[in-house]
Amino acid sequence: MNLILLGAPGAGKGTQAEVICDNLKIPAISTGNMLREAVKNGTKSGLEAKSFMDSGALVPDEVVIGILKDRIAEDDCKGGFILDGFPRTVPQAEVLDKMGVKIDKVLEIAVEDETITQRLSGRRVCEDCGNSYHIEFKPTKVEGVCDKCGGKTVQRKDDAPETVLSRLKTYHEQTAPLKDFYAAKGLLTTVHGKDTVEETSALVLEALK
Ligand code: AP5
Ligand code: MG
Repeated sequence: MNLILLGAPGAGKGTQAEVICDNLKIPAISTGNMLREAVKNGTKSGLEAKSFMDSGALVPDEVVIGILKDRIAEDDCKGGFILDGFPRTVPQAEVLDKMGVKIDKVLEIAVEDETITQRLSGRRVCEDCGNSYHIEFKPTKVEGVCDKCGGKTVQRKDDAPETVLSRLKTYHEQTAPLKDFYAAKGLLTTVHGKDTVEETSALVLEALK
């Protein structure tokens, strides 16, 4: 299954991608995580992306598309994949179509903006593997240490309150139109992401049956 997860920043795309990955045994591909890795490693794409990410804007399409194309060409994607955070603009979705990538389902996780702000202020992410936690709603077993890989968990720079507002604005203006784009193709399913992580996972897995 080739699946797209759609949703505002902090809606729980990364959290649910991990659950789907465990259940369906297909890789979760987060363009946000790949871009943060590129920034950390100081690669050409990372250098191009950094200022956009820090301000809560989208990274230019050509930079993200390049990274995504390379990733989905890898062997582990042959049996399907979960796209978390891509596409994020209509032109990015059109590129997927032009590449001949067949999308089976687009799952939107819908959460109110008010809930988002609270979630992102308490989020911590692993510096090494990008896994995400929440100090209250999804704490690590040992404070500051990733359950999955033992890496250090930190606060993302773009989770500062003013950057979150700008990311939400970017989402509503540039990414939300993808809902109509995929609804018109009969691919969109929406689940509410306002309840607990576990309750949302149950809705997500049900929607994928
Ligand atoms: P990206 O990393 O994709 O950020 P985002 O879309 O803003 O999404 P987040 O990762 O912030 O949220 P999420 O939905 O994954 O939520 P999570 O599961 O962590 O992108 C970062 C930047 O990269 C972008 O701003 C842009 O600049 C650039 N970029 C990336 N892709 C791009 C593209 N295609 N084109 C252009 N630019 C691109 O959950 C959030 C928190 O809430 C966590 O703490 C979690 O534990 C908690 N939580 C989750 N679910 C629940 C729940 N049900 N109840 C309570 N708490 C919950
Ligand atoms: Mg994420």
